[in-house]
Formats: sequence, structure tokens, C-alpha cells
Amino acid sequence: MGTEQGEFWSRVASRYDEVVDRQIGAGTRSLVRDRLAEEGRLGDLVEFGCGTGFYTSVLAEKADSVVASDVSPGMLTLARERITAPNVTFQVEDCHQTSFPDGAFDTAFMSLVLHFTEPDRALAEVRRVLRPGGTLIILNLDLLALRGVDRVRALVRIVYQGFAGYRVKPPKRLGRNMLTRAQLCAVLGTGGFEVECAEVIAGASRSSNIPVDYVRAVKIPVGDRPHGATVVDRAPGPG
Ligand SMILES: C[S@@+](CC[C@H](N)C(=O)[O-])C[C@H]1O[C@@H](n2cnc3c(N)ncnc32)[C@H](O)[C@@H]1O
Repeated sequence: MGTEQGEFWSRVASRYDEVVDRQIGAGTRSLVRDRLAEEGRLGDLVEFGCGTGFYTSVLAEKADSVVASDVSPGMLTLARERITAPNVTFQVEDCHQTSFPDGAFDTAFMSLVLHFTEPDRALAEVRRVLRPGGTLIILNLDLLALRGVDRVRALVRIVYQGFAGYRVKPPKRLGRNMLTRAQLCAVLGTGGFEVECAEVIAGASRSSNIPVDYVRAVKIPVGDRPHGATVVDRAPGPG
């Protein structure tokens, strides 16, 4: 899975930023970056699937150190060119199975990555590399939060803009493991995380902009029952 994904993302890396904004709605990722800037100190942080490094600079301002990782060497090349912060290093890693030791990080961050993975496996690996009580901040594309014609329009836009923008055949079933916000919170709960907050971030300019779930969860000892999540809608709904 990792190699095929890595090759695909390396081939499309130079066009990624432009295409993703057309797919999910221009401005949504900037709203997420603004939200990240509100976080407190993040300690030693690992970013999984950093892509072109769109979020890496703001993470570097909040963290003592950042390992920006991705399965795609091509994406990492662009991120390296773009990010000049001295506390960032770059590393090829598949988030299903990494070379990091147990408990190496205070915070893990992953944006728009989970639906390209086997979520249970990826989250188990993320949990392994976090210290006890460490924090996971996850950005989840929530297409299924849209209803009716808005959902269909968003889906068509994702497929059309992907083909037209990349002109590269994607791997089979790319991005098929999308989770709703409720499903993500449930998977985190059974995977040894307690969800602290789950917010919705969506650009308001078009009804079919795809909402992004901004979820912060804490690694808890297996066996402890997670409490309920605090769910806060920060942006006007997509409708
Ligand atoms: C949609 S892009 C998101 C990039 C960036 N996080 C952002 O939000 O702008 C998905 C990224 O995840 C990476 N990726 C996909 N599968 C991965 C895996 N198994 N392990 C690590 N990275 C992965 C891709 O190479 C790509 O850079």
C-alpha cells in the first residue's frame, strides 16, 4: 500500500496545493492553519503525511522539535524546500509502521491522511509512538457530513479536479476509507484515545465545500473508558 501511495503522491506533489484547494474549497486549509496557531505548546511533535509542508511551519512555531514525515519522497522534497525552521527534520515514513521508538513524541499531527490509510493500523502506530498522555491532532475530511446535492457536487468536484489537475491514474481505492466525525471519534475511543474536542471547520463560501473535522485526542492507557467528546461547530454549516 505504502509504495504505491508514495509513488502516486510523488508524481502529483508539485500540483497538490492547487488541486486540493479546488477539491475541498479554497480557504479551508488556511482556516485550519489559523486554528492550529491557537494551540498551546506541543513539545516534540511528529507530523504524518506532511505533504508539501502546508502546516509544518505553524507546527514548528508551537513545537520544540518537529519530525515532518511522509510516505512520498517527492512530497518531502517540496516540504524541505519550503520549510526553513531550524527545529524541523524530514523523514520518509509509512504511518502504518514507522521506525520511531515507543513513546518518542508529545504530539502527533496528521491532516487529510487517515482516509488514505487503514485507519485502525495507522492509529495504533500513532498511539505507539506517543508518550502516555500525548496528544493526537487529526484533520479528517468529512464528505459524508454533506447531504443530498451538496454531497454529490463535492464528490464530482473531488474526482473531476483530481483527474484534471493531476492527470495521473490514482492507485485503486485511493481515499476510500473516509470516516465521518462520529466514526472517527469511535475508532479513536476503541483505539486507546480519549477525544478532548471535535470541531468542524468549513469555508462558508460554497455549500459544497467539504467540512474538515479538527479532532484533538489524548493517549490513555488501554482499558480506561474514554469520556464523551466535546463537539463544537466553529464555522457556519456547509448548507
Ligand atoms: C492529501 S495529502 C495531505 C498533505 C498535508 N497533510 C495537507 O493536509 O496538506 C495526503 C498525504 O499523505 C501522504 N500519505 C498517504 N499515505 C500515507 C502513509 N501510509 N503514511 C504516510 N503518509 C502517507 C501522501 O503522500 C500525501 O502527502
